[in-house]
Amino acid sequence: MNTDTFGLSQPDGLPDERWLQELANKFFTSPPVPMGAVEGIPASVAGSGISPSAVHQGNSVDLEDPMTSLPDPHFAGAGHVPASVAGSGRSPSADQMAGSVGSEAFSGVQRPTEQWPFSTDAAFYFISEKNAFVRSQPALPTHAALPAAPYDVNLVRKDFPILQQYVNGRPLVWLDNAATTQKPQPVIDRISHYYEQENSNIHRAAHELAARSTDAFEGARDKVRHFLNASSSNEIVFVRGATEAINLVAKSWGEQFLQSGDEIIVSHLEHHANIVPWQQLAGAKGLKLKVIPVDDEGQVLLDAYSRLLGPRTKLVSFTQVSNALGTITPASKIVEMAHAVGAKALVDGAQAVSHMPVDVRALDADWYVFSGHKVFGPTGIGVLYGKEDLLNETAPWQGGGNMIKDVTFEHTTYQQAPARFEAGTGNIADAIGLGAAIDYVTRIGMDLISQYEHYLLQYATRLLTDIPGLRLIGTAPDKAGVLSFVLDGYRTEEVGAALNQSGIAVRSGHHCAQPILRRFGVESSVRPSLALYNTCGDIDALIAVLHRLRTTRPRL
Ligand code: ALA
Repeated sequence: MNTDTFGLSQPDGLPDERWLQELANKFFTSPPVPMGAVEGIPASVAGSGISPSAVHQGNSVDLEDPMTSLPDPHFAGAGHVPASVAGSGRSPSADQMAGSVGSEAFSGVQRPTEQWPFSTDAAFYFISEKNAFVRSQPALPTHAALPAAPYDVNLVRKDFPILQQYVNGRPLVWLDNAATTQKPQPVIDRISHYYEQENSNIHRAAHELAARSTDAFEGARDKVRHFLNASSSNEIVFVRGATEAINLVAKSWGEQFLQSGDEIIVSHLEHHANIVPWQQLAGAKGLKLKVIPVDDEGQVLLDAYSRLLGPRTKLVSFTQVSNALGTITPASKIVEMAHAVGAKALVDGAQAVSHMPVDVRALDADWYVFSGHKVFGPTGIGVLYGKEDLLNETAPWQGGGNMIKDVTFEHTTYQQAPARFEAGTGNIADAIGLGAAIDYVTRIGMDLISQYEHYLLQYATRLLTDIPGLRLIGTAPDKAGVLSFVLDGYRTEEVGAALNQSGIAVRSGHHCAQPILRRFGVESSVRPSLALYNTCGDIDALIAVLHRLRTTRPRL
């Protein structure tokens, strides 16, 4: 007899898998619990008493061996305020809004120093305040007797309005974070505030709104600088996204400095945005494109890489985290080896920035690129980091307003970076929104987010591995946020559609990374991908549907 925390008992003799299935059927086919039943948290989320895996696997936490649901303050006392919130008296998201609106002087972050799991009254537990601009600090009740929550994901979730909805009658489970992330209220509010109070073109006029808008835009640039630990805000160029950033480097630096016979190295893990621009350049200029192979787990092979490097290598361009497999590459090492032969290194951080702290100076990358929408910011905004001297010796890509110092019909002189790469009116509002997103994750702490997601990843990996007929694509020991798989007897889009029926969003397809999927013998995969607001309950919901698929079409 296996009895879980909630008093549900596994009948003697009933195999674990059947019991798990019965629980899944019981809980996942019942009508949804109305929102707000447990402090606004859907009952099927966050392990609030109905987690099949909690039943399956016990209910304690071991970071090294995460077989179980996270402890949930709602187990201990629904309706109570977790001890870790109590007494702090402030919400980081509310603080953030107060700090970012009206004053762009938010000057950095108090990162937690404690190791996770820890108990603390520090400022990374959130409460969501709709009217954050004018709120005063509420005094929260104290329930010091309750156990502290190590990372109160339920409070984080409250900051994401889009997660509070039902899809196909089930609470939305957003596991398509590698494609795009959802936006917290402070980001949404910050963009609205910009259009309500600040909208103006920047750098151009001597009026109040131009000053507000310029301050906010340049303030966002400085937030990005802190976030990446760049040396100067001059190294931060706003672009449309990671794809545009890579194209910018290819079409400016690549066009200017590469010559026929030069070699560019990418890894087999790259998504199309880090392949196609180099292929186009190679075709136009007679360059050679070489590819670092990966092993059967999806790790780049450094030995093979070292053999590709040589005097003709001028650029190594590679991802820090694979969008299709989740592999974390040994980025510092790859950069170091590129520099050893005199090549430049571009690191694609599109899939890294929301999952781990990034330090471009420690990486020593020559360029680092990412997209705002993958780190809880808006779409249509992204960042090209480049070393300042390198940016300034590179000719501009696009010409127009803002990037010029002086124009005559005979001749134009250009601004230094970053303006030389920001021709025309940019995406001002969304750059400011990205700044708010960076404030948001920074206040939680990227270290803490990274640890929490690592736990979730291991939890999910363990449960997926238990499903017969399921093959994980990408099993590197060092992974972040992504669980790609195929399921025997099903096309990937069938799995995606079945998950959608249960309100679960994943991407199924080639993930804009066909070469690496083909390396593993598939044209597409199902790709759940994680973010800071996902819960063990989200994963349990995914697992329950996959078990149901297996039992309803047993072509195994
Ligand atoms: N590159 C994005 C993805 O991985 C769109 O889904």
